[in-house]
Amino acid sequence: MSTATLDYTPAIAAATAPLYERVRGVIPEMEWPFHAPYIDAINRLKRERNAVILAHNYQTPEIYHCVADIVGDSLALARKAAETSADVIVLAGVHFMAETAKILSPQKIVLIPDARAGCSLADSITAADIRLLREAHPGVPVVTYVNTSAEVKAESDICCTSGNAVEVVESLGTDKVIFLPDEYLASYVAAKTKVKIITWKGHCEVHERFTGSEIGAYRMAHPGVVVIAHPECPPDVQAASDFVGSTAKMIDFVASKRPPKVLMVTECSMSDNVAAELPDVEFVRPCNLCPHMKRITLPKILKALQTMSPQVEVDPAVAERARRAVERMLAVGRKQH
Ligand code: 13P
Ligand code: SF4
Repeated sequence: MSTATLDYTPAIAAATAPLYERVRGVIPEMEWPFHAPYIDAINRLKRERNAVILAHNYQTPEIYHCVADIVGDSLALARKAAETSADVIVLAGVHFMAETAKILSPQKIVLIPDARAGCSLADSITAADIRLLREAHPGVPVVTYVNTSAEVKAESDICCTSGNAVEVVESLGTDKVIFLPDEYLASYVAAKTKVKIITWKGHCEVHERFTGSEIGAYRMAHPGVVVIAHPECPPDVQAASDFVGSTAKMIDFVASKRPPKVLMVTECSMSDNVAAELPDVEFVRPCNLCPHMKRITLPKILKALQTMSPQVEVDPAVAERARRAVERMLAVGRKQH
């Protein structure tokens, strides 16, 4: 594709005008000529390739609202990756999400627009660490957060996300579980169940930066603000919040309760994405960006579709064992619905 197609022509302006209406509140009009040619090219090429774009809630609004076919939290993206009939999955998110898609759909091509999009939680634990933990706690099942590598999933009994962690832990029917690698998500789960939780010291580099005193300062500056936090936040932040839940649960909370003013204690693009849909809600925006999520951009998505790379590959033997843990998690959700 030549660079000429990336000019902001009157035809592209007309074709993308309805998409601009979706993001008008969060993307200045003067920026649109830079995004629109990529959006137009991506949406055309996506159809030619029978590709589907899955975008995490932390992607920027021009990706989330203008090229994504499916948006959601890690759990929704895993479910949809398993169900799609597309030949190609483009994962606008981080590497573990793309690996999960490949584990569930080994016959499909899975593209990640920047293979360096990692995650501090996924980097905090290895398959060898899990084997040592199993030796230290014989017979105790291992529940692994999806924010982990395929090798770590392969050593696990079952996966979970922040959206279903309590249900997954309780589904095992044991009085003790090893829960990895997020220490703060583990403490959130421990507070909601009688099951004893053995944990690990992994942290999300974005959420661990929030502090309880910072939340107190926001409450002083914005009387009446409703504070909702992700369970990857430290315990003092969770305790200072009105609601704690996965990114999808945070969005549902705001969409259904419509608080006049809200502080979402999480990656900051999510507030932009929700604000674009709920102009009546005022968002207080502490801005902690995930540097990994932010590696995914429109030009990189277009390049991935043009070159059909980088493709995510998982060793088939590892994938088979990891699939058991992911599918066991998805079955817990199915039983509840
Ligand atoms: P969710 O599953 O809640 O979307 O969280 C994923 C994540 O990476 C949060 O930092
Ligand atoms: Fe990982 Fe945190 Fe980024 Fe989510 S926000 S991908 S947990 S580093």
